Amino acid sequence: MKRYLAQSIRACTACKMHENCTAPFPGIGPSDTRIMIVGEAGGRNEDIVGLPFVGDSGEWLKRGLNANGLSQEECYVHNVNCCSGKATPTQRTTCADLFLFKTLVKVNPEFVLLVGGIALEAFFPTYKITQKRGQILTHKDYPDVYFFPVFHPAYLMRNASKVPFFYEDMEKFGKLVKKGVPKKTKVDYFACTDDEQAYESLNLFLKKDLLAFDIETTGLDPFANDSRVTMISFSAASNTAVTIPIRIAYT
Ligand code: URA
Repeated sequence: MKRYLAQSIRACTACKMHENCTAPFPGIGPSDTRIMIVGEAGGRNEDIVGLPFVGDSGEWLKRGLNANGLSQEECYVHNVNCCSGKATPTQRTTCADLFLFKTLVKVNPEFVLLVGGIALEAFFPTYKITQKRGQILTHKDYPDVYFFPVFHPAYLMRNASKVPFFYEDMEKFGKLVKKGVPKKTKVDYFACTDDEQAYESLNLFLKKDLLAFDIETTGLDPFANDSRVTMISFSAASNTAVTIPIRIAYT
């Protein structure tokens, strides 16, 4: 299927972009990788070679990856636009719909490094790179993938003051790939329905060395004179908690 996608990319005439570049080119990388890199589009060098990130931007990317124990060769590298050159928003959407999203599903990575605002916006149209760079993002259509946006090297070459952010974010990305993201644990709640269950639970919790608790009260100010406790919850483990509803006597 990836080979079929690559053939469709090379033969694509869905918009006028192919007329102004040597030929559209597909992504490249191992098929069993944990990491996919998504860039914007190739430039002059990429157009000559027919491969993504082989010019100056590629050098920046390599430095950022290598400094954190990663290499470009171990990642699957793809662009939002498969033709080199500047695309219109519509051309980007067309190309992403035709090829990028399908490639992502085929590669099935754990992590996607989004290089620049265009790559970020292909997946998250309302997000801005200046606000989201260096953050782990999740997407409802790809629930098992962690997206991580960084500034585009071309932007860094025009804005030297932003360079430290790129290296800082790449370090964070390296750690993310090495350590992964802790899975959210499902918490089982046990709600006490009578005094005996509440008494037993409290006795158990009092024997623990470490406890977390949470108290719910009426009203917004828990310390107000008329505020009453309505529920107390305890937990001594990350996946279980006990709640004790408190009966309120209104006078
Ligand atoms: N080369 C690419 O392949 N993509 C970019 O976004 C920049 C350079």
